[in-house]
Amino acid sequence: MRIAVIGAGTMGNGIAQVCAFHGHQVYLQDVDPKRLEIALSGVRKSLGRVTRDLDVEARESKISETLARIEAGTDLTPLADVDFVIEAVFENLEIKCQVFEKLDKVCGPDCIMASNTSSISITRIAAITSRPASVIGMHFMNPVPVMKLVEVIRGLETADASFEKTKDLTLGLNKVPVEVKDFPGFVSNRILLPMLNEAMFVLMEGIARPEDVDTVFKLGLRHPMGPLELADFIGLDVCLDILDVLYEGFKDPKYRAAPILRQMVAAGRLGRKSGRGFYSYPAK
Ligand code: 3HC
Repeated sequence: MRIAVIGAGTMGNGIAQVCAFHGHQVYLQDVDPKRLEIALSGVRKSLGRVTRDLDVEARESKISETLARIEAGTDLTPLADVDFVIEAVFENLEIKCQVFEKLDKVCGPDCIMASNTSSISITRIAAITSRPASVIGMHFMNPVPVMKLVEVIRGLETADASFEKTKDLTLGLNKVPVEVKDFPGFVSNRILLPMLNEAMFVLMEGIARPEDVDTVFKLGLRHPMGPLELADFIGLDVCLDILDVLYEGFKDPKYRAAPILRQMVAAGRLGRKSGRGFYSYPAK
């Protein structure tokens, strides 16, 4: 299949990598050429990790054939020829709607248009286009090459055929699709984010130090990362965006973001990606 991935951030890179790894021809698009360069070097590094068990020759050829299947560019015209497009731009309704308006103009009539949104309504995004039946949610988890889940979200108008094609694509990527209805945060983030947010309230109230909050979850609940570590990993700006979507969507105060989170985002402490969040990440 020919697949376009829009947005070369962490999720876009991961999605492009996994699609190319499983034999699809990928066009990775971003408005910023520098981000595309960083993305391709990230994909190369990550491919090194996922092919670690192969012998040297097989590893080299798997990496080079996967990379050869990825074309990167800033132009949107190659989208006229793709079968599937997966959008992974910033988690912001306005930006996503602008992107989908453009996709609607350039993509062919049979193209499925998926959004990797982590919480925004698929129905709303679909309504911007002239073909809501072809719009669907495909929520990958971070790190994409490692995590097996894809939440597949049906908007109110998503056609059964679009859902089936998305499910088949997901299975072909060696991932497990889980069907979810279009409600704020879907299943994963509706449950995960209030937990991370509560950990931030616990920290704010001085109940435990960050490393102790995380140790409780790692040793007591077998989570691979504690909630504050995970929030840093996801990105504190992303966490705040999702909590705001939940709060707006349900109008329920239980989803209000912890003031410490809002403050840290305002200060540019965004977690791992900015070098500082609940923990510090010195540049390597
Ligand atoms: N690319 C490729 N492979 C990677 C990778 C990457 N970016 N990151 C880790 N790996 C691989 C490693 O190669 C290793 O593979 P192996 O088991 O075959 O040796 C394996 O993953 C484990 O990695 P490490 O040993 O380096 O490190 P850890 O054991 O600490 O695992 C982790 C890292 C997989 C990130 C683990 O800490 C984890 O599972 N954390 C939780 C992640 C999580 O919850 N993700 C969901 C976030 S929420 C989300 O995405 C939704 C969004 O909308 C907010």
